[in-house]
Amino acid sequence: MDIQNELEKRATIFNTYWQRYLQIKQPTILYKATQYLPHAGGKRFRPFLTMLSCESVSGDPQKVLPLATGLELIHNFTLVHDDIMDHSMLRRNLPAVHVKFGEPAAILAGDLLFAKSFDALLATSIDFQTFRQLQQDFINCIIAICEGQQLDMEFEVRKIVTEQEYLMMISKKTGALFELSGKGGAMVGGGAPQEVAALQTYGMSLGLAFQIWDDYLDISSTKKMLGKDIGNDIRNGKKTLIAVHSLTHATGKQKKQLDENFGNRHASDDDITMIYDIFRDLGSVDYAQHRALSFVNQAKEAISILRQSDAKELLLQLIEFTIQREK
Ligand code: IPE
Ligand code: IPE
Ligand code: MG
Ligand code: MG
Ligand code: MG
Repeated sequence: MDIQNELEKRATIFNTYWQRYLQIKQPTILYKATQYLPHAGGKRFRPFLTMLSCESVSGDPQKVLPLATGLELIHNFTLVHDDIMDHSMLRRNLPAVHVKFGEPAAILAGDLLFAKSFDALLATSIDFQTFRQLQQDFINCIIAICEGQQLDMEFEVRKIVTEQEYLMMISKKTGALFELSGKGGAMVGGGAPQEVAALQTYGMSLGLAFQIWDDYLDISSTKKMLGKDIGNDIRNGKKTLIAVHSLTHATGKQKKQLDENFGNRHASDDDITMIYDIFRDLGSVDYAQHRALSFVNQAKEAISILRQSDAKELLLQLIEFTIQREK
């Protein structure tokens, strides 16, 4: 089974389904701004995870499409607002929504995607008690993302952030949505409590590795491959795990160069390359990869209790994909 193939297969099913939440109404500009990012592509990683989790407990993936839609709508909502917060100009190889439509329309498009996520969740057909739990989890997940995003912004202006603080921040801003994709997919699929718990833990561990890798791609990839601006995290002074490690280990000339260029919005591409070299020299890139690997192992361990199936095989492949992907 080829993971890329399976991802695309499910993305096609998903893309057809969620279209109903992305119809154009009046005022047209608002709806065009809302549709823009969902139609720009994206890996559809969270719907894939939701569908696989459902399948891995012998659930019908068709039944989980409303939840998968709700989660991908939340994801897209956070990206629209995140690009305003992070001063990012490029997303999915296109101008960010706020660049294309202006900030007011982008804020509203994010809000609309957020509201639509509840619309989609409501279409889930499961027993009332499970639905109530899912709804509460959905709300808690959104609250966690807001908390994580606030911490991410506060950390920009903090001199020192510990690894523990970084992990707590990404567990909220990114881990929570992965966690719910795993847990919710299993709940809708009718999984036993220990299966639901296993996929919840898997989702969180995968999310942590995913964000550590996203931080790495921000400096190591190319604009064309990633479809986002390169070096943005350095210019913003983001306390990624790589930065956290370097900031605590740099001395002398390297420390001076970090002080001058890390968190400098006007840093040139050469400055960014120089900072990346420092990160590598200090072993910070290797360190972050080593930490990502530990979460990968946690994710593998978590689903060891699941019975053998194609979906489980794909969940295992998805772990490797997370830390090998180029975008
Ligand atoms: C980007 O998520 C935001 C993070 C949590 C790192 P993705 O890398 O899944 O973005 P798309 O959906 O594929 O564009
Ligand atoms: C975003 O983290 C996490 C969200 C909750 C949106 P990043 O700010 O690193 O995501 P990208 O790199 O812009 O996609
Ligand atoms: Mg951000
Ligand atoms: Mg960002
Ligand atoms: Mg990033």
